[in-house]
Amino acid sequence: MDLQHKVVWVVGASSGIGAALAREAQARGAKVAITARREAELAEVSGGAMLVLPADVTDAAAMVDCASTIEHTLGPIDVVVIGAGAWNTMDILSWDTDAFAETVQVNLVGTSNAIGAVLPSMLRRRTGVIAGITSPAGYRGFPTVEAYGATKAGMLNLLEGLRAQGNQHGIHVTTIAPTAVRTRLSSASRLRLPFSIDPDVAGRAICDGLERERVEIAFPHRMALPLKLIRMTPVRVWPALADRLTRDR
Ligand SMILES: NC(=O)c1ccc[n+]([C@@H]2O[C@H](COP(=O)([O-])OP(=O)(O)OC[C@H]3O[C@@H](n4cnc5c(N)ncnc54)[C@H](OP(=O)(O)O)[C@@H]3O)[C@@H](O)[C@H]2O)c1
Repeated sequence: MDLQHKVVWVVGASSGIGAALAREAQARGAKVAITARREAELAEVSGGAMLVLPADVTDAAAMVDCASTIEHTLGPIDVVVIGAGAWNTMDILSWDTDAFAETVQVNLVGTSNAIGAVLPSMLRRRTGVIAGITSPAGYRGFPTVEAYGATKAGMLNLLEGLRAQGNQHGIHVTTIAPTAVRTRLSSASRLRLPFSIDPDVAGRAICDGLERERVEIAFPHRMALPLKLIRMTPVRVWPALADRLTRDR
């Protein structure tokens, strides 16, 4: 798939990976629409060249309105990349149920809201790409990462199931799994992962993967396989390793 002339909607595009991805897709000739809550940041990312649709991903009706505006303004959505993400550090000594719920609402329910907004048209047309930005934090449980990790594990599961259903209807589902991209969100997290990259490198990797119609886009490559292998670490051994990866910097 060539991104040129494709209609691409990036959800969570006011900063970080989403912003870089939107700019890269636009540079490749895509017609890009961007969504997040911060309007001024969206306008800056757009540079006047994208359709700016401020909205909260936790609002299902607002997501439907965005999708409808894009269809009427740019044409049917070819690709949606869902990357709206929230981070909350969890502490066993002061368990914050509100923070946990907010993380689930943005990362997991928000993903479902954006999927629900694009599905009717994609199903009708029997075409379209739904891509979600998950994380290796969903591969295993990390201390203090319980909220974020649970949502990313949920997304991995959600996208895998949706891929199997989508295959029956001409809809391609892509799982994006970046490791350590230097953004606002990663600086708030306590995961210590090597080989961190800048958002523009991530934006290029995602566009390359979308154009190659990958089912999974995991980068940087030298981290992708080792992180998958942590899934096989025995349950009894895992807590000590997880602790090392999340100890205070
Ligand atoms: N950085 C990494 O190393 C890394 C690794 C793996 C996965 N990821 C994932 O990559 C995605 C992008 O994160 P990032 O690292 O680029 O961090 P970021 O710069 O903080 O970007 C997060 C984006 O999500 C948007 N967002 C948050 N809550 C929202 C809401 N309720 N409604 C709509 N948009 C919302 C933010 O915009 P507003 O605040 O303006 O709404 C922002 O555009 C996230 O899903 C994250 O989990 C990141």
